[in-house]
Formats: sequence, C-alpha cells, structure tokens
Amino acid sequence: MTEVVVTEIIGAVGLIALQNPPVNAAGAALRAGLVAAIETLECDPDIRAIALYGVGRSFIAGADIKEFGKPPSEPLLPDVCNRLEASTKPSVAVLHGAALGGGLEVAISAHARVALPGVQLGFPEVTLGIIPGAGGTQRAPRLIGIPAALDLITTGRRIGPEEALSLGLIDRIETGAPREVALTQARAVLAGDLPRRVTGALSVAQDGNGLAAARAKLSNTKGVTAPLRAIDAVAASTGPMAEGLAKERAIFNDCLNTPERAGLVHAFFAERAAGKVPTGAKSRNVAHIGVIGAGTMGSGIATACLMAGFAVTVVEKDQTVLTKGQKAIGRNLDGAVKRGKVSAAARADIQLTGAADIGAIGKADLVIEAVFEEMDVKKTVLKEIEGSCPGAILATNTSYLDINEMARALNAPERLIGLHFFSPAHIMRLLEVVVADRTSPEAIATAFALAKKLRKVAVASQVGEGFIGNRIMSAYRKAADFMLLDGASVSQIDAAIRGFGFAMGPFEMADLAGLDISWAARKRLAATRDPAHRYHGDLGDALCSAGAMGRKAALGYYDYASDAPKENPKLPDMLADIRHAQKITPRPYSNDEIIARYTTAMIAEAARVLADGIAARPIDIDAVFLFGYGFPRWRGGPMFFADTLGPASLVAHLTQLQTEDRHFWATPPLLAQLVRDNRQFMHLNSEA
Ligand code: 3HC
Ligand code: NAI
Repeated sequence: MTEVVVTEIIGAVGLIALQNPPVNAAGAALRAGLVAAIETLECDPDIRAIALYGVGRSFIAGADIKEFGKPPSEPLLPDVCNRLEASTKPSVAVLHGAALGGGLEVAISAHARVALPGVQLGFPEVTLGIIPGAGGTQRAPRLIGIPAALDLITTGRRIGPEEALSLGLIDRIETGAPREVALTQARAVLAGDLPRRVTGALSVAQDGNGLAAARAKLSNTKGVTAPLRAIDAVAASTGPMAEGLAKERAIFNDCLNTPERAGLVHAFFAERAAGKVPTGAKSRNVAHIGVIGAGTMGSGIATACLMAGFAVTVVEKDQTVLTKGQKAIGRNLDGAVKRGKVSAAARADIQLTGAADIGAIGKADLVIEAVFEEMDVKKTVLKEIEGSCPGAILATNTSYLDINEMARALNAPERLIGLHFFSPAHIMRLLEVVVADRTSPEAIATAFALAKKLRKVAVASQVGEGFIGNRIMSAYRKAADFMLLDGASVSQIDAAIRGFGFAMGPFEMADLAGLDISWAARKRLAATRDPAHRYHGDLGDALCSAGAMGRKAALGYYDYASDAPKENPKLPDMLADIRHAQKITPRPYSNDEIIARYTTAMIAEAARVLADGIAARPIDIDAVFLFGYGFPRWRGGPMFFADTLGPASLVAHLTQLQTEDRHFWATPPLLAQLVRDNRQFMHLNSEA
C-alpha cells in the first residue's frame, strides 16, 4: 500500500508529500503521517526548512467528511495544525487544486503559503453544517482581518489565488509542478526571499461593528445555524489564541451533532452518488450539439451547452422565435460572464448557429429536442432528426410523455434517451436522464458524461408519467390543492412551505412555470382518471379557463399587476363556488399541519416511485429534489427527511389521514414493509 505521507530530504530542505487520493482528504492516516513527518524533519539537524505539497489533484480538500459522526481518532486536525505552527523549522505550504476547509487550516498554520494557478481556497464548512474546527476561525482573522475572514467563513465562498493574494491569505503565486515549487520556495524561505510568520502569534484588530453587522445579516437564515455559530467563534479571535481555539472546538463539536450537519453532509454525498450509474459502455465523444426549438427550454439548453464549450446549432421553425431565442441566449451568456461562470475569452469563442431547417444539424453528435409537449409533434421531429443525423444520439426534453412510445416511432430506438432539463436550463443543476426500454448503454454513458461537462447533477430515471420529480411533485401539489379547497389559503400554504425551507411555495411555483402545463396534463389524463378518486384541479382549471395562466399572464394564483404580488382577488369567490358545489365546509389549518400533509404526500409518492423502479435508490430521489425542486438542502432531501421522521410515524400519519380519503392517503406497501423490517429508506441505497 502507498504511504499517505512521504518525506524526502534534499540538502537542507525536508519535503512532505501528501498522497491520499482522490483529493487528499485529511483522514486519520494523513493526520498521523503529517505529525510524524514534521517531528522526523524537525529532529534532523541538517534540515533547515520544510515544504508541504499534495500529490495528485489537490493540496488538501479538507477534513475527511466520511469520518464525521464516527468516534474521533487522534491526532485531531487542530493538533496537526498546532504542531505545524509550533515547528522550530520554518515551513511553507504549496497549494494546488483544492486547499479547502481543514486543508486551508493546515496551510495557514505553515509559516508561508505559495499557491499555484487555478487553486480553490476557502472555508466551505458552513455548507456542511459545521464551522472551521482546526483553528481557521482564529488564524484567518489574524492573517486577513475579521471582515475578510467573516466573509469567507460565513459564506463558504471559494476564491482563486489572485483574490487570496490580495487578501493576504497567501504570500505569492508561482507556476510549476507542486514538488518543484515546494523545493524552490523552501529555498526561498532559507534565503529570506519569502517572508515567514507564525499566524497564531499575530494580533487581531478589534472590528468595530462588523461582527454585529454580520450577525444581523444572517438573522433570517431559515434552519441554518452554522454561519451564526461561526461568527461566535470568529468573535473569540480578539482574545488569547488558546481560548479562541477552545471556543472554536466547543462550537465545532456542537455542530457535528446537529441534524443540519447530517442533512448537509448527506446532500454532499447525494450529489456525487447520483451520477454513478454503471453502464458498461464508453461514452460517445460529443463536440457538436443540435437543439430543436428555441423556446423557453431550447434557449436555456443551448446556453448550458455553449457555456460548457460545445458547438451548438439551434433549429427553430418560427423565425421570430429563433431571433428572440438567439437574443435570449446572448443575454444568458453575458450574465454567465458577469457571474464568473464563463470567462470573457471563452465567451468570445462561442459558436452558435441558428437555422430554420433540421438539415443544418447533420453533423451533430447529439440532438436534443425541446419542441411542444405533444406526442405527435415529438414523434415527427424525432423521425426527421433520425433521418438527418445518421450517427447522432437523440434526446427528448419531454416533461411527462412516454419515451418508449416515441422510441417505437424510430428505426433505431436504441438511439433515443430522455434528457429532462429544468427551467432555467442554464442555471438549474438537475438533469433527469430518462432511460427507455431500448436505450443503448452508450447513449446512457454519453448522457452522464454530458451532465458532468455541463456541471449538472444527473439522476437516472426509468420511463413513467412525470419520471421521478414531476410525478412526486404532482402528488404533493394535490395535497396542497386539497388543503386549499378545504379551507387553507394560497398565501398561507406558500408561506408555510417556505417556512419549511423550500425556496418557493407550490402556488408561487405553479404561477412561475405557467398554469397551462399542469392544465394540459390534467386534460390528457382526464379519460383515465378513476372516478372514485377525489379531483384536485377545479381551481386550476377555472383559473386557466379565465386566462389566468400565472406570471406570463400577470395573473394566476397571485396578481402580478403591481411590484408586490398579492393573492388573486377573485380566489375567494372562485373557491366559494367550488366549495359550495362540492359541499365542503372550510376549516382552518395550522402551518404545521400544512407541512405535515405536504411532506407526507411527497414521501408516500416517493416510496411508490422506488417500488415501481422509476428511481433506483432513495438517494437519487434526494438528489432530484435538492437540485431541481428547491428542497431545503439542510434537511438532506425527502428520503433522508423521511428517515428523521421514521417510517412508523409516517405510516401512523397516513392511517389517520385515510379516514378522510383512503385513496389519496393510502399507505405505500414499501413504507409498510420498512416498518415491519424496522428499517429506513437509507438502508435501501446499498441494496439497489
Ligand atoms: N472528504 C472525504 N471525501 C471527499 C472530500 C472530503 N473532504 N472531498 C471530496 N471527497 C471525495 C468525493 O466524495 C468523491 O468521492 P467519490 O469519487 O467516491 O464520489 C471524490 O472525493 C472526488 O470528489 P469530487 O467528485 O467532488 O471531485 P471534484 O474534482 O469535482 O471536486 C473538490 C474536488 C473541489 C475537492 C470537491 O470534492 C469538494 O469541494 N470537496 C469538499 C471540500 C470541503 O467541503 N472541505 C471541507 C471539509 S470540512 C473540514 O475541513 C472541517 C475542518 O474545518 C476541521
Ligand atoms: P416553448 O413553447 O417555449 O418552445 C417550443 C418551441 O419549439 C417553439 O418555439 C416552437 O416554435 C418550436 N418548434 C415546434 N415544432 C418545431 C419543429 N418541428 N422544428 C423546430 N422548432 C419547433 O416550450 P418549452 O416550455 O420550451 O417546452 C419545450 C419542451 O420542454 C416541452 O416538451 C416541455 O414539456 C419541456 N419542458 C419544459 C419545461 C418548462 O419549464 N417550460 C421544463 C422541462 C421540460
């Protein structure tokens, strides 16, 4: 087995190489190895300077997140940092790839720091529900001052070497291989060309009102406590170092035990687990992408592909829409440059072609259709693409339609896959990869490789009405509609769901997406609806019939005529009519009841989606809702949240609700099975 920490002596320089693939997380072996290496080099009378560098992709990507929640193993990371800082031999840390969290804490415990171009530096701990726990809250303020330290620590923002240099977090930027730079910079330390400091011995300027202002700024953060706790730790940096470190450690340990930490760490791993789908095939090399339709989705998808460096041809039959779409793409790209997502040089190189005819995409390696959501239109377009692009993989962006049926219209059904983007497609990170019965392994592998290039979170779904996300959303939207009909108000439900942590409530969301989308789905499914099941769509139907299609019509559940949208003033009368016709006596709902019904409907449908094999693992459903539907990240996702409630309590809730509506609130067999087996959803991840 390769040693995690290796020392090398070159003249008066002791090099410490860190090699814990893939990202040099500071796990137990790296920590122990680093302390042993420092001690060995310190005892060697010939060594006069020490340099640390990472082998592979990173310097150190932080503490080993997999160790959170397990019994700690000594030496702890703060001990490693203190030992490095206390070393009698001057040390320099050479940073490349990632110097994040504990990695940056190690770096600022060395006596000098040199960064290579492209390195990411930062304290992402709050994004995991914790605070820097190895001296970061004490050393960063000493090195760069309280305001800059607060900014980095409370936001988790990652910065590049130029900004780090201007803040004083690093001493210089050098180019070269990490080992070579380590050697030359250790020699620079010896020659007095690189200043050295003991960070913990620096004093911190009092910060006036900065800490209070930072607290005030964060006082509204729903459910998330780590940034506020981090401010408490930074506040202690104005006192003696030892006391500050003790305070930081106490807060760090508190944070480790919060549900917020558990949820955020689960979300971190869900993001990475979702994309791991064994296909047994190699992905196709994709350089040129065709997009059919330049409407809302087509222009967003084209933007996403252009941002990732693909050549894109957009085909739109309506010249006015094409011109509008090209302008929208241009604006999207300018916005991406402003947000730092694309460099100005890359923006200048972007190749976008617009065309009215499908013949223009003959050379595309992959073609994504985003035309109207109508089966016949989709089949015609896909057949045309199949004829025009002999080798290309074909993808449909359909939200609900049956991709197997589309595939049956093709000569080569194995070329078709679903790539379900979410609006706005250049911003939303979720991509549902819908695998039809005949989709080839190569098409699946290509879809996942594409998602990586687009920096999206790809989740595999099987074919089924609404796939994973929209199917589950339909169920909890029904629960919201029923509560509305039965007495709650639109704004109360939206506020309660925002209070739970969602970015938006269901009615605000529906107005944004356009009420016509779900209206079309209800009409399409009307013929197959079981008359024994309660219908939820009366109000939505009435709004659509009156032309109130949501934001695009400036009227939907809300009235958007003024800058501050208010509830549509016609709703009380419309609801009164529906209640009268359905003999409903409205009753009040508490916010807690709204949340409980909404989430229970979500979890129950998710259990059915799993049992039907539409989603392979609970963690995939969590990824869908975290990256596509605004589920609060700190709650980990619907399946992780379900486990915090416990399957037994969910079944008890459903049983109670069945007295009201035994169909809608039926207990999913999988949930009942979990209760019988005394297991949780998360146990199913490893079995899928
Ligand atoms: N601990 C454990 N595993 C980690 C890890 C970490 N800190 N960082 C990354 N990994 C794992 C990932 O889970 C993934 O594993 P997998 O291949 O089994 O799925 C593998 O390393 C590669 O990660 P990515 O797929 O994310 O690779 P990228 O190249 O896209 O990104 C990265 C690399 C920028 C380092 C990114 O992984 C990242 O941001 N990591 C997290 C950094 C972080 O949050 N550090 C702070 C940790 S908390 C801390 O340090 C506490 C301290 O204050 C005491
Ligand atoms: P849209 O109506 O904005 O755009 C569709 C475009 O396709 C129109 O501009 C139309 O002129 C064009 N078009 C139709 N037939 C064509 C043909 N034969 N050749 C070239 N262009 C043609 O619709 P939108 O919202 O962009 O939806 C497109 C698809 O994406 C639908 O399947 C929809 O279900 C799906 N989708 C929509 C989402 C949304 O939030 N709007 C989210 C995810 C998927």
